Amino acid sequence: MTVTIVGAQLGDEGKGGIVDLFGESADIVVRYQGGDNAGHTVVHDDTEYKLSLVPSGVVRGKTGVLGNGCVVNPRTLFDELDAVRDRGLEPDVRVARRAHVIFPYHRALDNIEEDAKSESNQKVGTTGRGIGPTYEDKAARRGIRIGDLTEPDVLRERLEYVVPQKRRVVEDVFGVSVDEAAFDVDALFEEYSGYGERLETEEMLVEGGEFLAARLDEGANVVFEGAQGTMIDIDHGNYPYVTSSNPTAGGAATGTGLGPAVVGDGHVVGIVKAYLSRVGSGPMPTELAGVVGDTPGYDGDGDAVEEELAEFIREEGGEYGTVTGRPRRVGWLDMPILRHAARASGFTGLAVNHIDTLAGLDELKVGHSYTLDGETRYSVPATTERWAQCEPNYRTFDGWPDVDWDEVAREGYDALPENARTYLAYLSDELDTPIYAVGVGPAREQSLVLEHPFE
Ligand code: IMP
Repeated sequence: MTVTIVGAQLGDEGKGGIVDLFGESADIVVRYQGGDNAGHTVVHDDTEYKLSLVPSGVVRGKTGVLGNGCVVNPRTLFDELDAVRDRGLEPDVRVARRAHVIFPYHRALDNIEEDAKSESNQKVGTTGRGIGPTYEDKAARRGIRIGDLTEPDVLRERLEYVVPQKRRVVEDVFGVSVDEAAFDVDALFEEYSGYGERLETEEMLVEGGEFLAARLDEGANVVFEGAQGTMIDIDHGNYPYVTSSNPTAGGAATGTGLGPAVVGDGHVVGIVKAYLSRVGSGPMPTELAGVVGDTPGYDGDGDAVEEELAEFIREEGGEYGTVTGRPRRVGWLDMPILRHAARASGFTGLAVNHIDTLAGLDELKVGHSYTLDGETRYSVPATTERWAQCEPNYRTFDGWPDVDWDEVAREGYDALPENARTYLAYLSDELDTPIYAVGVGPAREQSLVLEHPFE
């Protein structure tokens, strides 16, 4: 049995908490895309783990797999594994030989290109982890895969081809000088073949698809953990303000080596934050006020009521990036985004987080549809430019009080304040998808489970 977890919005929907909740009954947690751009915090036995690459289930004793669709920075991988080991755990992490390697020159190029783009207002606001340049090399067939790290001749040959090219791109195309350490073939060979040896010695390397298929045949429960979210999917998101992989459910097939029917036979759970947040640039029709440097055209002088609401949500919801620490942009729930996400991934269920964050507001708004060129639209237009022209049509809901959420979590769904249930029922009806879980706090015990996909 499989459960695929997909962010329904712009990332940071609280996927980690839901993976944790449903993953309790899982044997394996697999990441199928992305790399160390996926910051998540896991609290276990009063210890906080800040992870960005290693699947969160690993701190609870699950086998973690980084599938072929991932881009893996071995430095981050071993740092995170060492940090987990230092706290007395024995992480079991496997890495697909087909996954691609992030090198220091990828990180360097990520930042250099962002700087170049910022001169013409085209900055994406990436996490600077080298994600895009690594996928770029993968698609251009000049990438280096995890399996290549264990073949010294292959590794050296690939580095000797690619590194001088990258150096020329930095110096001749972008006109900046290189950080020598990131572009030194000998040093890179030394360090990265060392990672290859370590991956081999620690028996972490797998043929991803074969490994997972065998475990599924034995009856294992597997969670496919999507990182980021639908609107930053390279195909279904708002290009070019996207990450370079497919967080949507199709990515779980191509990024693991299992067929789409394996994914489709299981549950596909869309994770929804009860409002909206965004890291980086790009349109956000239901945004409240803005964040200087990220919100297009925003200079810090917004509507006072909106500023106050945004501040309230940001503080209550802890809306600061796990990886970068930057304040996130926040706004009202946007239904066109959710309709688009539900279709693109085929959600069989929803998990709605942060219901507690909105408590105490007199009223809430939801962007029910958009107006574009005088017409009503219920889904997101394909281009960023057209999306930026959309005006939200709001529906207003009565707010709910701040209550003892631990008690609500213990008592169950019916203990939720009535107005919160009205809000959730609207969401579920509009998306024609049942709600599997509701998050009323960050801990696993602070979730109300209506349907557990593994039970
Ligand atoms: P990249 O993935 O670092 O290339 O960044 C591309 C875009 O995706 C930027 O707008 C990032 O802010 C956004 N992004 C990447 N990872 C995450 C995430 O885990 N949560 C939210 N946004 C993300």
